[in-house]
Amino acid sequence: MKILAIETSCDETSAAVVKDGAEVLSNIVASQVEFHKKYGGIVPEIASRKHIEVINPIIQDALDQAKTKLKDIDAVAVTYGPGLVGSLLVGICAAKAIAYSQNIPLIGVNHLEAHIYSNFIKTPQSTSPLVPQFPFICLIVSGGHTMIVLVKDHGKFQVLGRTRDDAAGEAFDKVARFLKLGYPGGPIIDKLAREGDPKAIRFTRPMLGQGYDFSFSGIKTAVVNYVSKQKADSGKQTADVGASFQQAVVDVLVEKTVRAAQDFNCATIALAGGVSANSLLRKDLEQKAKKEKMKVLIPPVWLCTDNAAMVACAGYHHLQQGRISDLCLRAVASLRLV
Ligand code: KG4
Ligand code: ZN
Repeated sequence: MKILAIETSCDETSAAVVKDGAEVLSNIVASQVEFHKKYGGIVPEIASRKHIEVINPIIQDALDQAKTKLKDIDAVAVTYGPGLVGSLLVGICAAKAIAYSQNIPLIGVNHLEAHIYSNFIKTPQSTSPLVPQFPFICLIVSGGHTMIVLVKDHGKFQVLGRTRDDAAGEAFDKVARFLKLGYPGGPIIDKLAREGDPKAIRFTRPMLGQGYDFSFSGIKTAVVNYVSKQKADSGKQTADVGASFQQAVVDVLVEKTVRAAQDFNCATIALAGGVSANSLLRKDLEQKAKKEKMKVLIPPVWLCTDNAAMVACAGYHHLQQGRISDLCLRAVASLRLV
């Protein structure tokens, strides 16, 4: 079974063709980051306009690369939330047009669920097995979300904790902007931190011992206060600030995720979302989980950031359970996982 999937929830326009929910035949991603960089963040109006410009060629590229014609597609899956409403609408309209013209099922997919399903995709680089064993804990960490999810079965989720303010990626982006390092901040701080001392400054670790909720805006404020006091502007000092900030964020993410796995008797932890590309998070989580005899699944970086292959994979499992949408599918900007 071949599913064509479309993802336009934020600033990436992506289309993919995935066979049997796991084999990626194509996954085309057009990033808009260059258009948003100068504003230091995503401008929703620009994002939706750019999606409109490229959506049709991106879908055609995905079909061509998969050596597939539209008539050979069995279903079309599309992200319908959460995300920027104007951006979501572009993908949804394209998906509806394909589903209607080809008379195939339309499957609306929750973007957060799609991130979880990036762990079910077969790739040569993947450390993940084809089918993660239920139940498992998934840490979803991106620019818009940070949450710990207990995945009990296909489509059965329990959100154990979420951020009460900034998402982890948002904190990376805001700290990078404050330090005048550029956008998006996550990969820049990740790289810079390799030259700094993560123990140089002991930034706060909010809510570390309490429950599974997160709070990252306090770490960001601690960085701002520290730098404003120190007037740190030399390269070395900035690297220390970046490394110490990153360590504080990663410590909280790792501690709570491993504790959730212990508390809910899960032998497996999966990572998902753009911040899973962070090298310290990947290393520290693997180390800590190994000590606890837990297995960690980490998708390759191209599956961590927004992409349509993960939407196709989630869509495949919806279809298996007979969960399809109709042509009235609407964009839901603040869609929740459960
Ligand atoms: O999942 P994603 O592509 O889009 C959202 O759904 O938000 O995540 C983007 C976020 C950005 O905040 C970016 O700074 C962050 O992921 N990110 C990273 C790294 N690569 C991307 N954060 C920390 N370290 C990285 N290496
Ligand atoms: Zn995402």
